[in-house]
Amino acid sequence: QTTQVVIVGGGPSGLLLSQLLHRAGIDTIVLERQTRDYVLGRIRAGVLEHGFVDLLRRAGASARMDRDGMVHHGFHIAHQGRLDRIDLAGSAKGQTVMVYGQTEVTRDLYEARDAMRGQIIHEAANVALHDLTTVRPYVTYEQQGETRRIDTKFIVGADGFHGVSRKSIPSDVLREYEKVYPFGWLGVLSQTSPAADELIYARHDRGFALCSMRNPQLSRYYIQVPLTDRVEDWSDAAFWEELKRRLPDDVARGLQTGPSIEKSIAPLRSFVAEPMRYGALFLAGDAAHIVPPTGAKGLNLAASDIHYLYDGLSDHFLRGDDTALDSYSERALARIWKAERFSWWMTNLLHRFPDMSPADLRLQQADLDYLFSSDAAQASLAENYVGLPY
Ligand code: FAD
Ligand code: DHB
Repeated sequence: QTTQVVIVGGGPSGLLLSQLLHRAGIDTIVLERQTRDYVLGRIRAGVLEHGFVDLLRRAGASARMDRDGMVHHGFHIAHQGRLDRIDLAGSAKGQTVMVYGQTEVTRDLYEARDAMRGQIIHEAANVALHDLTTVRPYVTYEQQGETRRIDTKFIVGADGFHGVSRKSIPSDVLREYEKVYPFGWLGVLSQTSPAADELIYARHDRGFALCSMRNPQLSRYYIQVPLTDRVEDWSDAAFWEELKRRLPDDVARGLQTGPSIEKSIAPLRSFVAEPMRYGALFLAGDAAHIVPPTGAKGLNLAASDIHYLYDGLSDHFLRGDDTALDSYSERALARIWKAERFSWWMTNLLHRFPDMSPADLRLQQADLDYLFSSDAAQASLAENYVGLPY
């Protein structure tokens, strides 16, 4: 088989790029290791920057988001028993975010790909990348016991943190930067009405908590837990009790609880791999970088990568101009490091680190007090939260 671009990974990054390229007349094949049901069973991000929203519209996959997604003009930070509000629209020149789940985004992208008869190969095992530094790279994979080959011009590694693409770059070329945090997030999805109209990020002596939502009948909550905790250790009752202890009294009293539909623990990590190109291979999304989830940036960073990469690939195929493709890694990384900084800062602002000294705790409190005493500090947070320009 032959195609112009092989995309490894059928998560949001890979699907979005495949859809945008196809609409520009560029041919792609997506190779996904899992089944579609498996990919759609993952509960992940929930907050979309306006840049992501625009891309989804350009991809022709936004009808359901435009109908069911919830535009949020602000969010709350709970600390010292009270709720303060960040006015996104007021502080970030009218810009807002869209609350609409990654699961829904992925489903909408699969439907858009199906409608265009886009090629997505599921259950592609042992994907391997070959001859990346030549003009004739190719990809092999196994399906139903047979090894198959796709010849191509470019390969996009959109296969997440544990994928094969980043690992195909020689270690003397790739630099990796990493910070691992000493806690995780326990997440619960439940068919209950959300705690408030807007998200609540809570800093508490017992640890961080977050009240989010997917729609008016579906809530998503997270609490900071030690890395040694296992999901089996947390009954629904224990989860709700701990969540309530970390929220202001009036919010806790009004909290609607119910059975969990999904419950999982995610570790927190900051990670960047540089450069994001090796010959014919381009990395995008979680394959190249991870942020701790506190600033809601993971999925949104994947989208800005796709924006730059789409620019580069479409200029190459439609205009014979490689300027944007050659500067892809540099342009993407400039924005990535700023989102890494913001996510690291917001994680530090709101979490209880196990080794915090009394001085660290007072500094953290001062960081919050400064935030809510300064319009400039709120504007800075808001500007980052709605998403830095592409
Ligand atoms: P992925 O979504 O990881 O997609 C990669 C795809 O590649 C997967 O479908 C995978 O099956 C496939 N794949 C992997 N290896 C191979 C291979 N060898 N061959 C073929 N296919 C392969 N972000 C937030 O903003 N908020 C959150 O609450 C949040 N929670 C998260 C929870 C978890 C457990 C994880 C892992 C991430 C979370 N994120 C969150 C981050 C966000 O979900 C990611 O940034 C986003 O999914 C990145 O999209 P992606 O397409 O780059 O990667
Ligand atoms: C959600 C996840 C986040 O990491 C975040 O900052 C906000 C919302 C969510 O899953 O809804």
